[in-house]
Amino acid sequence: MDRIRIIGGNKLEGTIPISGAKNAALPLMIAALLTEDTLILDNVPRLADVALLQRILGNHGVDIMSAGKRPGDTEYQGQTLHISAKTIIDTTAPYELVSKMRASFWVIAPLIARMHEAKVSLPGGCAIGTRPVDLLIMALEKLGAELTIDGGYVIARAPGGLKGATIDFPKVTVSGTHVALMAATLASGTTIIDNAACEPEIVDVADCLIKMGAKISGAGTPRITVEGVAKLHGARHTVLPDRIETGTYAMAVAMTGGDVQLSGARPELLQSALDVLAQAGATITVNNDGIRVARNGAGISPVTVTTAPFPGFPTDLQAQLMALMTRAKGTSHITETIFENRFMHVQELARFGSRIQLDGETATIDGVAKLRGAPVMATDLRASVSLVIAALAAEGETMVNRIYHLDRGFERLEEKLSACGAQIERISG
Ligand code: EPZ
Repeated sequence: MDRIRIIGGNKLEGTIPISGAKNAALPLMIAALLTEDTLILDNVPRLADVALLQRILGNHGVDIMSAGKRPGDTEYQGQTLHISAKTIIDTTAPYELVSKMRASFWVIAPLIARMHEAKVSLPGGCAIGTRPVDLLIMALEKLGAELTIDGGYVIARAPGGLKGATIDFPKVTVSGTHVALMAATLASGTTIIDNAACEPEIVDVADCLIKMGAKISGAGTPRITVEGVAKLHGARHTVLPDRIETGTYAMAVAMTGGDVQLSGARPELLQSALDVLAQAGATITVNNDGIRVARNGAGISPVTVTTAPFPGFPTDLQAQLMALMTRAKGTSHITETIFENRFMHVQELARFGSRIQLDGETATIDGVAKLRGAPVMATDLRASVSLVIAALAAEGETMVNRIYHLDRGFERLEEKLSACGAQIERISG
């Protein structure tokens, strides 16, 4: 199993290109199931989760062509995928595949909408809480699907097709909103999604669906309206930049000190996180090429932060912020409200000599002057990268084990960081 070795203490200086967003690329690829025409996606990140979803879609009969290098392309450019779901030969998504990645469960929406049937294994994914799918099931039932659970599979049928309805989510859910949105595009009549998630990835998917012929208004607000159409067609769409990758590298720079240009980043996608970083003492400058993050001289100031749905502070940056606060000059408080068990990184961060107390949903972090490198274990995707951030500022060597979690969500992490002066290498085997 690959490991990452880091010798801490170097400032980060240089440019980091920001990749396409994993959490937009995955639902966009799934949306290709809605049409028999080809959907072309540009700027798709080269990640383990994307490769796994390619296998899952392939199992349904989808052809995916990955375009080769073009003149002027750099190695940092995302890939272009041509996805053709002309004939869906199998409406079952098996346990062996779905259990490896939670988002693959979302294929249930286009399958039931277009094929009027689906059999999808209940999902797996990161160990960050119980993560039920009751709200996704509720949304599909509102649209007229009949669902049963048998042998670990959700079996969905809608013999006459889906019918538009009002779906009022009792809590904000990204997965629920993606599923409701995709399913409603081919339902007859009007669907209203209330208390919809406003995350930028929802807006990106809605933009792509609109290019495919869907009639959607209000994406990015808590009320999305969808007028169902009989068919969707092919389109070409560029995946938006990854706001979580952007925030992660911004926190790494705030941690080590230095000056880094995050090329291609879009500040409006993570304003709340940038505000917190500025409060912590980083200098954030927006320019034509993205965002520049610097921290010179003065140390890190403590902050009090609560995670919340967009535009609040994202849960996917909570672990990284906690790593940063381990070296703050004072006491910080971080409250996690989205996932009940997303504190797996706390015990690993303790190995660096950090001081973190957990009380229910809130972590209290007493900043220490120095962290010391240690062997640590990656747990979930974002927790893993928080260990990398701590290691970059720790004295001596850190070995991060089980890094397949990192490969699920961070493209060329060690290359991007070492190009900015970090001492980081992958050790294979
Ligand atoms: C998406 O997960 C992201 N995944 C997560 O990123 C992210 O942390 C999360 O949204 C919140 O922003 C992808 O986009 C692939 P939810 P999702 O449905 O859609 C509860 C990463 O590291 N809930 O918004 O699964 C749920 O338990 C990943 O990239 C129900 O109760 O999250 C949670 O408490 C990790 N019933 C809350 O809602 C349901 O049926 C929000 O979940 C569905 C969700």
